[in-house]
Amino acid sequence: MIIKMKRIKKIIYISLVSVLICTIGCANMGSVSKNNNSTLSSHFKGLFHLGAAINEETILGKDSKSVSIVKSEFNSITPENSLKWMYIQPKANQFEFKAADRYVQLGLENDMYIVGHALVWHNQLADFMQTINDADEIQGYIANHINTVVSRYKGKIDAWDVVNEAFDEDGSLRKSVFYNNLGEDYIEDVFKLAEKADPQADLIYNDYNFYKPKKRAGILKMVKKFKSKGVKIDGVGVQAHWDLKSPSIDQIEQIILDVHAAGVPVSFTELDISVLPNPWEMVGAEVTQNFSQFEGDPKMSPYPNKLPSKVQKQLAKRYHDIFKLFVKHSDKINRVTFWGVMDKHSWLNDWPINGRTNYPLLFDRNYNPKPAYKSVLEVNTNPKN
Ligand code: G3I
Repeated sequence: MIIKMKRIKKIIYISLVSVLICTIGCANMGSVSKNNNSTLSSHFKGLFHLGAAINEETILGKDSKSVSIVKSEFNSITPENSLKWMYIQPKANQFEFKAADRYVQLGLENDMYIVGHALVWHNQLADFMQTINDADEIQGYIANHINTVVSRYKGKIDAWDVVNEAFDEDGSLRKSVFYNNLGEDYIEDVFKLAEKADPQADLIYNDYNFYKPKKRAGILKMVKKFKSKGVKIDGVGVQAHWDLKSPSIDQIEQIILDVHAAGVPVSFTELDISVLPNPWEMVGAEVTQNFSQFEGDPKMSPYPNKLPSKVQKQLAKRYHDIFKLFVKHSDKINRVTFWGVMDKHSWLNDWPINGRTNYPLLFDRNYNPKPAYKSVLEVNTNPKN
């Protein structure tokens, strides 16, 4: 795993303190950890960071149960929405940092690997940005946004999703407002701006559907180009919005191997496993896809009250298999982040159909660990096994 040297001392210190505290008071630990001394992050310690995306209720401390899980189970956080452009700079040159400041504070207080998500993304962009039709104008706003936001959290935010979802499924660049105004070199320019604002932060390119060979090839071609030109890029973020069967373990392994061969570590940045029907063979996380005609159709939400134990077991096995693979390749993996803390708050209850009941995470609607949680903790953490 790639751990920054600056954090190693802290980690050793925290480990010693943890051992001491545990020796004194393990009996008082939260319900999640009663059966053994492992938490998710301690179980995979030394292999990769273990994170969760947290919503604004959690960031602002309004959801105390979620805060408690985050503090005990994870050593990395990502803001699910609060650092996106539409919230940070909703109007031109007007910045709103209240939630973002609280988010960073939470991470610092708990010595977490803090992720910034996301600097340049065509979605959840402020309205004023969507209609710009002038290269200098949009370039000016991008530079100002990155300088202002990245500099504010310099030395505090450890990694930035610098550019998010800039590629189409065929491996070409998405025709976003950024591409349309600035052409194909805009991603390189954005990475350079981020580096200038905080040379120490890890700079990540983040996207979904990496298991599709053409899309992966397009992205990794860019990564290799950056490496050969000396443009700083520190990792690829594979979103990992998957389901019970797809992508296969072999396909996930191929992603890891190919990203590694391109010269950067991989982070699984947005892991969740949908258990609901997907009759359209739809994959990934293109948020504009919507199937509102199926809203309220019981066939599309077959488990409104409880996940049947058969599916619960399938989910547990799926997570176990995935983490087994992650351990096998932990030398190539920097971080694994779940996209949410518990099922009730997952975005997958409302995508691609509103109002379904999905079960994609490790904690249930009452904040209790699911069988999948246990199955992840049962993964042997020796990479050679
Ligand atoms: O801001 C409004 C708020 O004012 C209102 O009260 C509330 C009521 O529903 O809606 C709020 O906006 C919602 C926003 O999340 C914040 O909660 C939007 O309707 C909703 O569409 C939006 O969804 C987010 C989605 O990105 C938008 O693209 C999800 O929470 C978030 O999990 C999801 O995250 C993305 C990653 O950033 C990038 N990769 C894909 C991933 C899943 O789509």
